[in-house]
Amino acid sequence: MMTQTTPHQLTVWLTGATSGIGLAVLQELVARGHRVIATGRNRERLDELRDSLGDSVIPLAGDVTDPTDCERFQEQLLTMAPLDWAILNAGTCEYLDVRQFDAELVSRVMNTNVVGTARSVEAVLPALRASGSETRRPLLAIVSSSSWWFPFTRAEAYGASKAALTYFAESLRADLAAEKIDVSVVSPGFVKTPLTDQNDFSMPFLMDAADAARIMVRDLEKHRRHSHFPKRFTCSLKLLACLPRIIKDRMAAAMARSNTD
Ligand SMILES: NC(=O)c1ccc[n+]([C@@H]2O[C@H](COP(=O)([O-])OP(=O)(O)OC[C@H]3O[C@@H](n4cnc5c(N)ncnc54)[C@H](OP(=O)(O)O)[C@@H]3O)[C@@H](O)[C@H]2O)c1
Repeated sequence: MMTQTTPHQLTVWLTGATSGIGLAVLQELVARGHRVIATGRNRERLDELRDSLGDSVIPLAGDVTDPTDCERFQEQLLTMAPLDWAILNAGTCEYLDVRQFDAELVSRVMNTNVVGTARSVEAVLPALRASGSETRRPLLAIVSSSSWWFPFTRAEAYGASKAALTYFAESLRADLAAEKIDVSVVSPGFVKTPLTDQNDFSMPFLMDAADAARIMVRDLEKHRRHSHFPKRFTCSLKLLACLPRIIKDRMAAAMARSNTD
């Protein structure tokens, strides 16, 4: 664990703030007295959130996959320094049907989850760099997933995007260590949100977004390198991941068969 306490009001850039986990994190941060620069494509929703949660919500609308929007984010974020945290949470999920293999679907998911996060890093790094001091150690948190720890059926695109994102974050942690910018990876299990409401399969240990946000913010306050929850799910997945390859492959294929039955 990287050691850091959170004594003061934080200024946080949060992407994917309009829905699901990001919305719950926004509410949790505001309830704790922090100031949040909230990003999503839905401008009206961001304005509604500022109206309902108050002036500690600063809307910054735009698309994390759009280079022009990200240039604007970079300029705006610099004017708001010192910035304590960036939580890069915007993401999407689409499942692949292998009978109608669709590389465009893979491209869309990769573009939002991996390239969109990389563009967000590019947008926020100057503000984080300008914010570090003896008493302030900036934190970059990247919301990945625990789903890629097991080869789940239909998750080729989503799982690959989150595996890539985790590697990206860990490599970034190594490169930013000398600049005293911490990097946290967040790996949720199933959390009830509009994204998972579309799932047509059972989701073990599905948790409430508010509970997920509380755990996540608590872990980020400690600058934990890795935040994962709910533990019953993520620890079971870690055990599954330790099984011999042949057993894992049989289990994954059985899941895929039961999915198409
Ligand atoms: N729910 C789960 O069980 C679960 C589990 C593991 C990981 N995760 C990860 O947690 C994150 C949030 O998921 P969620 O379940 O809360 O999903 P969600 O309810 O669908 O919310 C996704 C958020 O991302 C934003 N977003 C999507 N594409 C964007 C883009 N191109 N530019 C800017 N914002 C964009 C959306 O805002 P706009 O529509 O306003 O742009 C929305 O606020 C994702 O990275 C997801 O992969 C979720």
